[in-house]
Amino acid sequence: MCGIVGYVGEKDAKSVLLSGLKKLEYRGYDSCGIGTIVGGKFLVNKNTNRIDSLEEEVKETPTSKIGVGHTRWATHGGATVENAHPHVSNNKKVLVVHNGIIENYARLREMLKAKGYKFYSDTDTEVIPNLIDLYNKGDFMQAVKKAMDMLEGSFALGIINLDDPNTLVAAKRNSPLIVGIGDAESFIASDFSAILKYTDKISILENDEYAVLKNGGVYFYDSELNPCGKDFKFIDMKDEATEKNGYAHFMLKEINENTITIKNTVSEYIKDDEIVFDLKLTEEDIKNINQIHIVACGTAMHAGLNGKNIIETLTRIPVNVEVASEFRYKNPILKENDLVIFISQSGETADTVACLELVKERGIKYMSMVNVKESTIDRMSENVIYTKAGPEIAVASTKAYVAQVCLIDLFAIYLAKILKTADKKYLKQLTYELKTMHAAVQTVLEHPEVYAEYGKSIASELDMFYLGRGLDYYVALEGSLKLKEISYIHSEACQFGELKHGPIALIEEGTNVIAICTSKKLLGKVVSNIKEVKARGAKVLLITNQTQVPHEVYDERMEIPHIDELLSPILTVIPLQLIAYYATVEKGLDVDKPRNLAKSVTVE
Ligand code: AGP
Repeated sequence: MCGIVGYVGEKDAKSVLLSGLKKLEYRGYDSCGIGTIVGGKFLVNKNTNRIDSLEEEVKETPTSKIGVGHTRWATHGGATVENAHPHVSNNKKVLVVHNGIIENYARLREMLKAKGYKFYSDTDTEVIPNLIDLYNKGDFMQAVKKAMDMLEGSFALGIINLDDPNTLVAAKRNSPLIVGIGDAESFIASDFSAILKYTDKISILENDEYAVLKNGGVYFYDSELNPCGKDFKFIDMKDEATEKNGYAHFMLKEINENTITIKNTVSEYIKDDEIVFDLKLTEEDIKNINQIHIVACGTAMHAGLNGKNIIETLTRIPVNVEVASEFRYKNPILKENDLVIFISQSGETADTVACLELVKERGIKYMSMVNVKESTIDRMSENVIYTKAGPEIAVASTKAYVAQVCLIDLFAIYLAKILKTADKKYLKQLTYELKTMHAAVQTVLEHPEVYAEYGKSIASELDMFYLGRGLDYYVALEGSLKLKEISYIHSEACQFGELKHGPIALIEEGTNVIAICTSKKLLGKVVSNIKEVKARGAKVLLITNQTQVPHEVYDERMEIPHIDELLSPILTVIPLQLIAYYATVEKGLDVDKPRNLAKSVTVE
């Protein structure tokens, strides 16, 4: 998604803007630009390359004390310099950077054209500076408010204007925007990692609030432009958390952080060997739960599938897993004693946020699991528990997925203990295995050369198949997504039992198959299924902790430590993350910033 940075202060604005945009690169973008005020005029530089080339372009330009910067993930109009932000009004007096989508931009564009405005880009954003100009009769904030009141959709805006060259205005609706304050300087950003280098003191704009940054301070206004006070919080994160610390890529760093992530997530909620959550869900509420819905997107949804398996196994409560973009438009069937669980790493995914709003409006009990504190979902939720993965910079989610699986495993055990639906000793054993899981993960991470060799060997493949049953199938879905989203190798996950109902037609001599098997009970079935694909020429990599698999069944084998089957996804996903990583490195692609993707999908 797009990224925004703004600055007003004594430093050279462009250096602050470029530093911030580099921190936002991980969110995914296809063009970038900055706008400052120099000598009473806007100085605008934009390009469709990386931030480094923008930095080169502005190296010799004059300094300024105010400016805004933007990384654009194209929604309306291609990735061109004309469509890159900032965008300027026809009279060159109002400049804007924008995150989000203006859903009624076409009507506004026609209205402005009828009043003589001309447009140079295909973007929805370009209507905003011209609307502000149209309504600017001398009171700039009134003009901004009037323009905002005309907009439908989502926006986070940084606005500067030549009539007041020392003032930056920020406005926000359904797209994250924070304000930072330093010593005689102030900032705006779509993600606090962009300004963490300069300040850890931030305030979060709510929908239809405004912030006016000038004279080294910040002035907040509500939707009617009444002054309103807002608290500043200190962000608990250090800037180096968003550095690679010697790893070749953020993704490799984050895969290796799976161990500390598990340790931090599990220890956060286990006190004296008991799982403790501080939730506004009483034991009575939990005893009355008839149905659980897990709502998420992408990798988070895959973690939700694991949650379905363990919650249903331990509590016998039916669990329905829904993709947020489908759930929000299907008029979901929700009943009084349902519980909805939202899973989101960023806490900003537009579809998941919209589902949370829908469930809150219906008055249904819910709980959120997020990785980013102070994110939109965090701030919207009265029941929220956290994955302690720390900042996840690579677009492909790895440690956050493992943390989400751990967290939902903990929650399943917590429910089962209250409901007394599983043997206490067994729950104690599962809790112990989660407490020591980080050690098991470390053993999987100790031999990266095994995964590097296999990853390189499949780098030129066009298709890959990931096969599993039950929990192993859910991990196969995640492994397949990992490979697709960073190596661009097409892959699909398939339940072993479904192969013969169609997909096996695709298996031919040399087809690469990754088979996952952690179930002793289903081992015999899985061995037969693997033989079916072997018989048709497939090359099989078996990822397993089962010893009773005949050697002739597979071509290569990767061992994972034996743990309870219910917890196995935490381990089986690690080889799949590394295989996707090394295949991508072999192809010379951008591991951390794959094409077309964004870290946080804040638009529909
Ligand atoms: C996973 O590798 C992707 N980056 C993507 O599927 C992601 O999991 C999805 O967009 C959900 O994001 P969230 O967890 O921040 O809501």
